[in-house]
Amino acid sequence: MTFQPFALEQWQSEWEHTVEINLADSSVRCATLREVLGAGAVDRLLDQVLFYPQVNGTDALRTRIASLYAGAQADQVLVTTGASEANQILCQALLSPGDEIVVMEPGYRQVWGIARNLGCTVKSFPLLPDQGWRPDLDALEAAVGPRTRMIAIVNPNNPTGSILTVEEAARITAIAAKAGAWLHVDEVYRGTERLTDVETPSFWGGYERVVVVGSLSKAYGLAGLRIGWLVGPKDLVEDAWRRHEYVVIAAAGPSMLLAEMALEPATRARLVGRQRELSRSGWAGLERWLSAHADLVSAVPPAATALGFVRYHLDLDSVAVADAIRRRTSVLVAPGVYLGAEHHLRITHGYEHAPAALDRISTVLRDLKTGR
Ligand SMILES: Cc1ncc(COP(=O)(O)O)c(C=O)c1O
Repeated sequence: MTFQPFALEQWQSEWEHTVEINLADSSVRCATLREVLGAGAVDRLLDQVLFYPQVNGTDALRTRIASLYAGAQADQVLVTTGASEANQILCQALLSPGDEIVVMEPGYRQVWGIARNLGCTVKSFPLLPDQGWRPDLDALEAAVGPRTRMIAIVNPNNPTGSILTVEEAARITAIAAKAGAWLHVDEVYRGTERLTDVETPSFWGGYERVVVVGSLSKAYGLAGLRIGWLVGPKDLVEDAWRRHEYVVIAAAGPSMLLAEMALEPATRARLVGRQRELSRSGWAGLERWLSAHADLVSAVPPAATALGFVRYHLDLDSVAVADAIRRRTSVLVAPGVYLGAEHHLRITHGYEHAPAALDRISTVLRDLKTGR
């Protein structure tokens, strides 16, 4: 079996520290430690003993995380090193070679790649660009069968920024329940809604085989803490915990203490508010750029995230276009093909320097269009 690399993350890790402006990322400009620390916090950090931390996550942090999900208890939470680890160990716990899984495309292709590396058959159902990235749930229903072990979705979605309606979510849950399949929902973008301050409802609690994943990286702008989590039935949490012991033993202690502080209700509201400001003003800038270059680029306005999933009107593949942008202007964007959709670029806009970078991008696109 050939190893399936995580092409998007490989693209980012190879180039993100070599360019002047990185818009290939999928957070907003992240917060500083100073912005997380409240009164007395520095002393708590300085007095922390750097012994191995509690392996499944500190009680205080798991209690804070559980409070974000109706009816969840702290023993249904496992704290992980980012949502990345949660997705990895969940796949290890739930999937075996020969299993079938069905994923949403376009999407963040982590579960897609892990499942292939585990010897599973990966099917997909589309989000439809000409219908504002609504999901084709008839296609999902047709793809799910007796061999389906898991349906894996990302909601709100990376890269399209679309959010499932309550009806769509209910239908997906019903399809999973009918097949007895696990429903794995990556919810790291909950809290990044652009048009409302109301958080997208979690899938948690919809059915007994639902497992949800969260993170401090996106909605809180704290990617550097590397704290994520999964919330699921207790047996599955314990199964994932056994994998967690092999991979990392525990998440970092200072990060867990900082995560506990970040999720204290007033700090949480402040951090989410900060991220929303950056995402909303970033989108306004991206929208102006799209209108100024309507012959070259277009995008469905995202309902969430700080991402523009931009369709460029050129007959060139997205790696070639992203590569030309990087080489000619030292700006990094993500090729759409790495997220399952050609002729798109994923451009994050929650950064002050995004407008300057967008000007450089349109210059390259125009040059490519005229054959330069
Ligand atoms: C949908 C999705 N899940 C998980 C991750 C990984 O997040 P973390 O930084 O928490 O590991 C990302 C990062 O881009 C993502 O977009």
